Amino acid sequence: ISTFCEYQPGLENIPATQSSISCVDGINGVLEYRGIRIEELAAQSSFVETAYLLIWGKLPNKAELKQFQTDILYHRRIKYRIRDMMKCFPETGHPMDALQTSAAALGLFYSRRALDNPEYIRKAVVRLLAKIPTMVAAFHQMRRGNDAIQPNDDLDYATNFLYMLTERKPHPIAAKVFDVCLTLHAEHTINASTFSAMVTASTLTDPYGVIASAVGTLAGPLHGGANEEVLLMLEEIGSVENVLPYVEAKIANKQKIMGFGHRVYKVKDPRASILQSLAEQLFEETGYDTYYEIALELEKVIEGKLGAKGIYPNVDFYSGLVYNKLGIPSDLFTPIFAIARVAGWLAHWKEQLAVNRIFRPTQIYTGKHKVPYIPMKER
Ligand code: SDX
Repeated sequence: ISTFCEYQPGLENIPATQSSISCVDGINGVLEYRGIRIEELAAQSSFVETAYLLIWGKLPNKAELKQFQTDILYHRRIKYRIRDMMKCFPETGHPMDALQTSAAALGLFYSRRALDNPEYIRKAVVRLLAKIPTMVAAFHQMRRGNDAIQPNDDLDYATNFLYMLTERKPHPIAAKVFDVCLTLHAEHTINASTFSAMVTASTLTDPYGVIASAVGTLAGPLHGGANEEVLLMLEEIGSVENVLPYVEAKIANKQKIMGFGHRVYKVKDPRASILQSLAEQLFEETGYDTYYEIALELEKVIEGKLGAKGIYPNVDFYSGLVYNKLGIPSDLFTPIFAIARVAGWLAHWKEQLAVNRIFRPTQIYTGKHKVPYIPMKER
């Protein structure tokens, strides 16, 4: 079989699409959303404005942003049937499994595939951005035996999520830090979950199924699930003195250290640097804890041992420290990553509709041919 290029495990460095949504320079540690540096968006934008930029391709003017915010606010509530369905989920279920199931369920109410209708596209974008946070918060309340807390229309996107999660309005600094975290996690070129979204989108299925595919992919510990693993790792290490022996054991056993390394970045992930400064800002405000000291020591030790191989902190390394400081349980870290990444998945969904070509790669067959069928009595 003639193949156009050598087989690359994990499709490493193989372009799967042409895209203008974001760009990563892994050598210099640069990330841009629609050409704008992530540092500028983190400092000056909001998650909703960033989502608009990613999905519609330009920064909204005042009226466009107001309309987008209003549309999202209007669609935050979820149908009672979805809440009733979530009440049947086991309390011990992982919130990412609950999110994947309920995201797919949205398709039962809204699917009516009309992908050639711009109004259908717009509605799907708004509904998914609006309802995913509500579903994450609802499952968290229900698994504790409570009713879901209804969205509060007086609160902005980030504040409302923290309110639905905790039943209390967060400190403005906490809401602002959380909003920046969402911006930092919104998009990152063709990562595994975005690729999963693109493949699903290329079959022209409904956007709810696209997001459900992506959520299932993000859940893995090598991808979005790493942020939860990082906090568990810091708890396991327990003290600054234990960092070196922990790292030496991991390296000796050829085990990966969560929150480090990246397929593209061969320097420190620029998002990790911004998250580190957010963590420091929160710790200044509310007092330091040992996790941060351990994290700094871990970064130093790993730079010494694996820096030459381009292993540095990635986005998942400091995010857990920030969320933990905001009082968010560690098994919600990845669902929060999903809340943000819905913006990037939707941007690539729209972009793939324009490509309109189903993904169907080939393979290099390594099996046998003309093998005879052996009847059961002869096996
Ligand atoms: C995200 O793609 C994206 O953009 C993802 C993401 C996004 O925004 O969407 O940035 C979000 O998923 C961040 C990554 C979160 N995952 C983790 O923190 C899990 C730990 N990291 C590793 O599993 C790993 O670094 C990956 C999965 C992130 C990248 O894996 P690659 O590119 O397949 O790298 P590799 O396994 O080929 O490793 C190359 C070498 C190997 O050593 P050798 O066998 O060549 O001697 O680097 C080593 C690896 O053992 N290595 C690590 C390591 N990561 C790579 N060694 C120790 N600890 C690590 N974390």
